Amino acid sequence: MAVMYQQVCPVLFGENATQEMAKKIAEEGHKNVFICCDPGVRAAGIADMIVEILKEEGLSSSVFDECVPDAPDTSIDELAEKIRQTGADIILGVGGGSSMDAAKAAGVVLDNGDSVRKYMEENGNPGFVIKTPVYLLPTNAGTGSESTPMSVIHEMATDTKKVVLRYAELAVLDPKLTVSCPPSVTVNSGMDALSHAVEACTSVAPNPKDMALALHAIKLIVNNLPIAIREPENLEARGNLLFASNISGIAFAAMSTHIGHCFAHEAGIHFHLNHGLCCGLAVPETIRFVADKKPEEVRKIAEAMGVAVPEGCDAKETAELVAKFVRSLMRECGMKPLKECGISREDALSIAKAAIDNNWFHIMCPGDITYAQMEQFIADIYDNYQ
Ligand SMILES: [Fe+2]
Repeated sequence: MAVMYQQVCPVLFGENATQEMAKKIAEEGHKNVFICCDPGVRAAGIADMIVEILKEEGLSSSVFDECVPDAPDTSIDELAEKIRQTGADIILGVGGGSSMDAAKAAGVVLDNGDSVRKYMEENGNPGFVIKTPVYLLPTNAGTGSESTPMSVIHEMATDTKKVVLRYAELAVLDPKLTVSCPPSVTVNSGMDALSHAVEACTSVAPNPKDMALALHAIKLIVNNLPIAIREPENLEARGNLLFASNISGIAFAAMSTHIGHCFAHEAGIHFHLNHGLCCGLAVPETIRFVADKKPEEVRKIAEAMGVAVPEGCDAKETAELVAKFVRSLMRECGMKPLKECGISREDALSIAKAAIDNNWFHIMCPGDITYAQMEQFIADIYDNYQ
């Protein structure tokens, strides 16, 4: 069977990419830039640095620094109104997934009016126009949101995560923007990117281009994450992680995530835990879960990670070796187990049914996931990494 694969928005990658972006914005004739970020990005001096770089190109800008994780739908509508009031002609989303998602979703509301709820995929994927460009600058290497069409929004009325689909017009990968990331953010976001690559590789919708991207991302992440934790200012490691997060984002936008993200979305909402942390905790168990159905992919993942697999190992044994390797990487990088996050085993298991019912992409996992299997999956996450 032939497969279709997508090409996504252009990427500007490398040191001083931010300066190059500012030149491009000026050349395109824009005058007034709106920057969306969170208080942490502002406090780290990143937003003000971008304002200065834009100024050097004669561009004026406004900064909104109140983006929050798991953006509520109401906050997106308010953000769109704030952008409208400034008369901005281009939007920059600067930060992690939440700030970039907010920029993309607010752009849709700005250009089309009404509420963000109208444009959610779950409401029939309604058409909309794009007039105001959105450029995205990740400040951590994790979500890949700069190159995916997904904006994850928290629908308050139903207390569930919903999605608005809109690509950015440009992704800007500047390693310098990630050096101020504290170790916990670096590890959680890096493990989020690893989960995107691993889940994408083992989904029911593979294609050769995105498989190659995901496997290369896996190799880059396991080789560079410990370096970035030990040497936060190492621009080569930071650049490799940014690139890995970008290409794993492209890979999962095409091939999809599945069981790990079903757990992570639910755990994030119920326990208010960091998305990357939840996704990362699920990686070893995802590999074990798919071993029977995806033996060749598990072998390729082992190879990408550099895990030595003795001759004669079957898929299950290979998956155990890979899972063990990932857990030791998590320990080395200081990733917290669920128990240390204050979650009891009983509470963790209680979200199993919702993890399937509220997340349609469980169907992208090879083999149906039953409620009992999801409960066992979560038990394994809890018990096997302490
Ligand atoms: Fe994720």
